[in-house]
Amino acid sequence: MILLGIETSCDDTATAVVRDGRYVLSNVSTNQDAFHAKYGGIVPEIASRRHVALLSAAVDDALGRAKMSLAAIDGIAVTAGPGLIGSLVVGVAAAKALAFAARKPLYAVNHLHGHIFAAFLDTDREPTYPFLTLLVSGGHTQLVDVASATELTVIGKTRDDAAGEAFDKTARLLDLPFPGGPALEALARDGNPRAIAFPRYTPGAGALDLSFSGLKTSVRTFLENDRGATARADIAASFQAAVVDVLIDRVSRALNARDYALIVLSGGVAANTVLADAFRALGAKRGVEALVPERRFCTDNAAMIAAAAERRGAVARVDAFALTANPNLPF
Ligand code: KG4
Ligand code: ZN
Repeated sequence: MILLGIETSCDDTATAVVRDGRYVLSNVSTNQDAFHAKYGGIVPEIASRRHVALLSAAVDDALGRAKMSLAAIDGIAVTAGPGLIGSLVVGVAAAKALAFAARKPLYAVNHLHGHIFAAFLDTDREPTYPFLTLLVSGGHTQLVDVASATELTVIGKTRDDAAGEAFDKTARLLDLPFPGGPALEALARDGNPRAIAFPRYTPGAGALDLSFSGLKTSVRTFLENDRGATARADIAASFQAAVVDVLIDRVSRALNARDYALIVLSGGVAANTVLADAFRALGAKRGVEALVPERRFCTDNAAMIAAAAERRGAVARVDAFALTANPNLPF
């Protein structure tokens, strides 16, 4: 199948054409960072207005780069949730209109399912089940048992902040520019990850839940008492090390509980090189294959949405008239 993917759940206007859930014929994304930067975070109303302004051209662009026409594709896949309601509505309305006008099947995709299948894009590696994924994004942080493309179970999740959210909030404490995650990683490159022993949330034996709000508070308290004495790079590197330690420990615990031959990293924070390296090292240590998506497929994109629709098949198929965006779409 060749699917057109549309993703507008947050602030990236993204479109893509993907063959067989794997081969990326085009992948177009316009980030809106310049429009949100001065507010220090995403402004939902601005995000949805930008999607309205950009999406039609983005669809044409993805089809054009893939040398495809709307008539030649086999279906349209769109993110139905979770996300910002105003942003989701733009993508869903466009996808419904295109599906109806071109008489193509419409597939509704959970944004998080999209992230999970991103690691298989532009590789010859077909998913093999079961696999375990650590999904780390701006809004979610969870461990998911993937028994098949349609049987996904959350086996552990954060009690408070998501990992990406912790990066973004800590970046703000360090006066770094928006978006915070990549800026914090860049600053941390010159720092000593062992300079400050920030706390690592450790639940009881075997438990798989995570927490990052205590860590964030601890960075704030440290900064207040420190008054600029410690190099900011050391603070960034020590914070990043604490996040990575917690994430890797929980994956390690999940591997103790069940045998997996494959572990997969997913979500925007998978773009973090220190995390990706630690994830691969854990796989090597435990004798388990570890997959990390190509960097361009880690953060929000539409190729992953087309991929998830293809993998989930009939389960994702919806009536083009009935589909509505759902900001709280359950996992
Ligand atoms: O998956 P994503 O693009 O959007 C959501 O679905 O939330 O993830 C965005 C999150 C943001 O919090 C961003 O700061 C974080 O991923 N992120 C990073 C890096 N690149 C993106 N966090 C740490 N290091 C990075 N290199
Ligand atoms: Zn995302």
